[in-house]
Amino acid sequence: QQIPHYYSPKEAGVCLALAVFLAAVERSCGNNAYEPEEFLKREYSLTKPYQGLGSSTTSHWELMGNAMIMPEHVRLTPDLQSRQGAVWSRLPFYVRDWEIQVHFKIHGQGKKNLNGDGLALWLTKERMQIGPVFGNINYFTGLGIFVDTYPNEDKHQEVLKSELRSFPFISAMVGNGSVAYDHDRDGRNVDLGGCSASVRNVDYDTFLLIRYIRNTLTIMMDVEGKQEWKDCLEVPGVHMPQGYFFGASSVTGDLSDNHDLISFKLFELAVERTLEELENEEEVLIPSVDYRDIPVEVVDEGMGVLSIFFLFIFSVVGLVLLIVALLLIHQRWKDRSRKRFY
Ligand SMILES: *[C@@H]1O[C@H](CO)[C@@H](O)[C@H](O)[C@H]1NC(C)=O
Repeated sequence: QQIPHYYSPKEAGVCLALAVFLAAVERSCGNNAYEPEEFLKREYSLTKPYQGLGSSTTSHWELMGNAMIMPEHVRLTPDLQSRQGAVWSRLPFYVRDWEIQVHFKIHGQGKKNLNGDGLALWLTKERMQIGPVFGNINYFTGLGIFVDTYPNEDKHQEVLKSELRSFPFISAMVGNGSVAYDHDRDGRNVDLGGCSASVRNVDYDTFLLIRYIRNTLTIMMDVEGKQEWKDCLEVPGVHMPQGYFFGASSVTGDLSDNHDLISFKLFELAVERTLEELENEEEVLIPSVDYRDIPVEVVDEGMGVLSIFFLFIFSVVGLVLLIVALLLIHQRWKDRSRKRFY
């Protein structure tokens, strides 16, 4: 017959502490970001061999300017001066929470800083128009994400050292139709911030991820060939109307590059909302951002529980060693002074 084994309170305490510790470690090691389910929406996506792209009215995407369909990519502009190209979705977009993953390639003959201008991704009220903002119109209404490969401002104006951006620079802007993107300042006076990213003439694949959940806009990138997303920008309180159009555009001027769009994948995210959230929701008519004045810089996620734990252990060990050393020195000093005394 088996004798039931009961844990002593002490044993149970140790077990509990261990369990709590392990749970903390798991949480700090695992991906603690909440990952909603995602569904690829083909009608808003653009992937090889780009069958849904063309001039026929049944195609979901439309081509414009110098953009060209090639077997491996859509070339928005070739590495030639004064070109403009774009692709625009024909379907107005009605998804509340979404994510786009964009696979792109920017490459050319020009040496560093002798290339330009970069490319932009759009979700705007307007579509299929030509203008000065990466080939699209200014005073746009909606969201623009820019991969700017050429610094305009830093060339012409005195910029505070601390504000110097290293290019290529990825940034985002929400336009309401009456705010201009200032090309000469690289949009700095109106954008929401961003991050530097070496995305030009690299051997590996480069990706951008743009996520919009519960009015928070997040930009992440995978541009180092490590197959992992790195934070670039996070802005809460972004209000986007429904029924806008996706687009991607690019432009070259005196300086040029090949700007290739390899794929654009749109995922609908399944985000649950409480009844209260649904009731409090108001229809957004004009795009806006709650706090543009306080751009949220993405800082490295502090220390995990594990690193804090080790730091704590090391500090304790260090402190103990220090005390022992001080005691030894003190003892020696006492011995010596005693010897001198007698
Ligand atoms: C657009 O944004 C600007 C700057 O934030 C603001 O001054 C203007 O009133 C806004 N326009 C509309 C139509 O909301």
